[in-house]
Amino acid sequence: MFNFGVDYYPEQWPEERWTKDAELMAQAGFNVVRLAEFAWSRLEPEKGRFDFEWLDRAIALLAGYGMHIVLGTPTASPPPWLMAEHPEIFRVRSDGTRVTYGHRRGYCPNNLVYRDYSRAIVRKMAEHYSGNPAVVGWQIDNELGDRCYCPRCALAFHDWLRTRFGTLAVINDRWGTVFWSHIYTDWTQIPVPLTIGGPHNPGLALDYHRFCSDSYVDFMQIQNAILRQFCPDHFITHNFMGFVYDQINQFDLSRSLDFVSWDNYPQMQWNMKDAADPVKASLGHDTMRGLKRSPFWVIEQQAGPSGWEIVSPAPRPGQLRLWAYQAIAHGADGILFFRWRTAQAGVEQYWHGLLDHDGRPGRRYEEIRRMGGEIQIIGERLVGTKLKPQVAILLSYDSRFAFQIQANNPSFRYETEFLKLYRALQELKISVDIVSPEANLQDYKLVFAPTLHVLDGQAADNLSAYVSNGGVLVVTPRSGVKDEANRIVGCPLPGLLAELCGMEVSEYDSFPEGKTNSVRFTIPDLEGTSSPKVDIWADLLHPTCATVVAIYEHDYYAGSPAITLNHYGTGYALYMGVFGGQDLLLPVVRWLLQKAEIPLSFQGPTGVEILKRESDGRILIFILNHTGDGQAVDLPGVYWDLLHTSLIESPIHIGPYDVSILEQQG
Ligand code: GLA
Ligand code: ZN
Repeated sequence: MFNFGVDYYPEQWPEERWTKDAELMAQAGFNVVRLAEFAWSRLEPEKGRFDFEWLDRAIALLAGYGMHIVLGTPTASPPPWLMAEHPEIFRVRSDGTRVTYGHRRGYCPNNLVYRDYSRAIVRKMAEHYSGNPAVVGWQIDNELGDRCYCPRCALAFHDWLRTRFGTLAVINDRWGTVFWSHIYTDWTQIPVPLTIGGPHNPGLALDYHRFCSDSYVDFMQIQNAILRQFCPDHFITHNFMGFVYDQINQFDLSRSLDFVSWDNYPQMQWNMKDAADPVKASLGHDTMRGLKRSPFWVIEQQAGPSGWEIVSPAPRPGQLRLWAYQAIAHGADGILFFRWRTAQAGVEQYWHGLLDHDGRPGRRYEEIRRMGGEIQIIGERLVGTKLKPQVAILLSYDSRFAFQIQANNPSFRYETEFLKLYRALQELKISVDIVSPEANLQDYKLVFAPTLHVLDGQAADNLSAYVSNGGVLVVTPRSGVKDEANRIVGCPLPGLLAELCGMEVSEYDSFPEGKTNSVRFTIPDLEGTSSPKVDIWADLLHPTCATVVAIYEHDYYAGSPAITLNHYGTGYALYMGVFGGQDLLLPVVRWLLQKAEIPLSFQGPTGVEILKRESDGRILIFILNHTGDGQAVDLPGVYWDLLHTSLIESPIHIGPYDVSILEQQG
């Protein structure tokens, strides 16, 4: 069964309406509904008094219409009675101010009282629903994240340090506290890095970011253990926040879950300048699939215009369905739309669901009902098929955290440079896995390690072994600069990668805003490429055994190497000392794909995605047209068109915002 459904808040609507909602859900082809993840006030209206009757009734009704139920634990939004009695639960922001009541996610994950109350409600729910045949799984909390700087976190941070490093002597050495005379002689002297006390020692600051991330992982683990104990037959997931979320190490957060879910909103109201960018959504999906290197769910899929204070542009006819199929094409095995009916009250009054405020089925509902009909036909063909990319990009949360502390250049953003690389691969219709620097890389022919700033010996060895066994690796500026303690290495850059890359960075130049240089390619393979602009940062390279691929054209280092290639073992390591746009990246990536013997299997216009999901004996090709115009794609071979149930051959025509799903014949 393919999991297709919706997020529903029955507690926000009169009970007389529930039946109508369930009927419409069934007509849309839905088979799974998520409930309760913000319902604490209704589940425990006062301390120790629990009320599950309304939820039991909602579940029974929905189950009668064939729905499986995913329950959210309600800890993202504690009730007012709890917070009034224990204001110390409120999180403290990095500026030292304490959150007050009014929004959600205001709690400190290390607060012991909060942990007790969370345990109690989760345990009650788990006991109550463990035997309910309609309930199939759990979502823990909602979008875990943020950082807390409260006194309780300070104590927990000291414990965290003690467990990892044992003694103050080790910590003083690790952080180099002799600088500015910060030598700690008692644990209680170690501060949390409040902005009013900073800028802080980079070692302390990075460890604090790691500690905050671990705090949410621990908080989740408390709930996970209870659910595992009482509901061993149910799955456990959490709704993650895609590529963009940068305050938790999402690899760590995913580890104890059965699968990753995430919340996908391609058209956010917070960015009214740009139209929805399908490449960003793709990167979100690939990142989420990479966390556990396995299929995931989109447990919140955009259902209409988004909006809190302002309203985003309306998704165009076809786009909601297209975005949902995009998720499936990138490996989703479950799609739930957020939300069912648009709220009449509360902060998210303008965050549109499938139904408008008036509760009548309209254009958006009809579009997804059509998709529901399609899923009933093709769902079984999807189950068990997976993506098998030959290219990976390494995602390092340590490096992201370190750049939050020291950006290196005001125009540099880890996410932006990462996205540019990803965009070049998307342009060439190359499927990508996003994995951690410690991941086993043997399935990949080409691996990008963008700005791998904080690098430990294990990851460095992993990369060397990968290249020595024939892999092609790409390293970009500011890699290998820091050790695990966020100290700068005491050897030539790129530090632990210098031997592998066969070069050293002899000097670097951080550009003022708006300044550019350009590079000229010096190898026959790239001859004829016009000189691409580079910006932000320039590493001046000194090859020890690498070949020069490109040189700078301007400034006092005109003529110095900017990009080098090293043959190492049976593979290659490319060091790019520059950042640039698609005119730099596209030719380089195309050339590397050739070097790595990865064919450009799919050709098609910009804005058209082509992806493959496969299993033994079955190959499904998804063609997604993100443009508002009809497009044509050439694919050799004969295909069965799953949505139109007919045989089809090139050229394949796809309407605006439409999708084709083709099964390869023979
Ligand atoms: C997130 C949350 C939802 C809702 C939506 C829209 O993804 O998980 O509860 O708030 O955003 O804002
Ligand atoms: Zn705290």
